[in-house]
Amino acid sequence: MRLTECHNFKDFRELARRRVPGAIFDYIDGGADDEVSKRRNAAAIEACDLVPNILRGVGQVDLSVTVMGQKLALPVYLSPTALQRVFHPDGERATGAAAAKFGTMFGVSSLGTVSLGEMRRAHSTPQCYQFYFHRDRGLNRAMMQSAREAGVEVMMLTVDSITGGNRERDKRSGFGIPFRPKVGALLDFALKPLWGLNYLTHERLSLPQLDAHVNLGGTTMSISRYFSEMLDPGMNWDDVAAMVAEWGGPFCLKGVMSSQDARRAADIGCAGIVLSNHSGRQLDGTRAPFDQLAEVVDAVGDRLDVMVDGGFTRGNHVIKALSMGAKAVGLGSYYLFALAAAGQPGVERAMALMQDELVRGMKLMGARNVADLSRENLRPH
Ligand SMILES: Cc1cc2nc3c(=O)[nH]c(=O)nc-3n(C[C@H](O)[C@H](O)[C@H](O)COP(=O)(O)O)c2cc1C
Repeated sequence: MRLTECHNFKDFRELARRRVPGAIFDYIDGGADDEVSKRRNAAAIEACDLVPNILRGVGQVDLSVTVMGQKLALPVYLSPTALQRVFHPDGERATGAAAAKFGTMFGVSSLGTVSLGEMRRAHSTPQCYQFYFHRDRGLNRAMMQSAREAGVEVMMLTVDSITGGNRERDKRSGFGIPFRPKVGALLDFALKPLWGLNYLTHERLSLPQLDAHVNLGGTTMSISRYFSEMLDPGMNWDDVAAMVAEWGGPFCLKGVMSSQDARRAADIGCAGIVLSNHSGRQLDGTRAPFDQLAEVVDAVGDRLDVMVDGGFTRGNHVIKALSMGAKAVGLGSYYLFALAAAGQPGVERAMALMQDELVRGMKLMGARNVADLSRENLRPH
């Protein structure tokens, strides 16, 4: 199977499964506990039907949107994800380049493997910094300051990861940073020599956003210890209100699920929220973000930009969320499997397919631009 044979998410996922060691595939693919929310995310989108309009003169389609003051050529952005150079040596560089090529936003994770400064210098497309809240308030301030100096536009605070999710696939394989593979997982590494060769012949893995605090050799701190010892589970609305004020630019909470919290986010001055259950990787049993969308848009859609992620792998999925009132949709696993399968050409192919599907889908919906979509175009199953 080759990249040119990948026509959709399932194909990218299959190519990634063939090319990367099982432990790495499972880290990308897995959810928490019984992975119910992970499955629900996709099922919820499928359970909503589109009702197209006809004869609307759709010769030209404009897919652009403005979110949190950022003009994007596509209504999808590449959501921040950890450890991208573990999946493929192109890592964040591929993600940023693909985002720039398609004129959209990308995020760099706190657990990213390329520095947000390097990414900012490489591209001018909007960039967000995915941030975790540390016990050490001085450290939070210093990290925000370095993001500001780098020229990052949007601060995105992840609020659904106050503690790590129970990812049983990772427990079985031994996946973690530092990585302590179980014997079975080691055998699988031996069966994927190309990945191993790439890993050994490319720049050493590092976490530049955190390099003063987390050491990948395990001499200072593992990622799970970083979560349990350095992040502050006591984080509350007052803490975040102070961060929003200090940042001064567009600030976004990622991982909001309730309309009550969405209202509070608006009260403290957030420019946006992302409805997200972290791809079902944190609290299993949560409702699908797509199912919460209408309620949250109705509660705060006139006060801040509501985005959504979780289970979006097709242009028609995105059109459903936009019709419901989302301002943009975050992609996660969709581009990660493409990255793991084929690096930058993989992510670019995934984005090109998404763009094609969006243009075709909008035409078939009778919509010339995102503003033409509304809940009139949706019906539950
Ligand atoms: C492998 C992987 C790593 C992720 N790492 C992060 C992260 O470091 N920070 C974060 O806020 N979200 C992270 N996410 C969540 C994504 O940003 C996004 O919310 C989610 O993937 C969307 O769901 P989807 O994968 O079903 O599209 C990660 C997701 C995956 C699959």
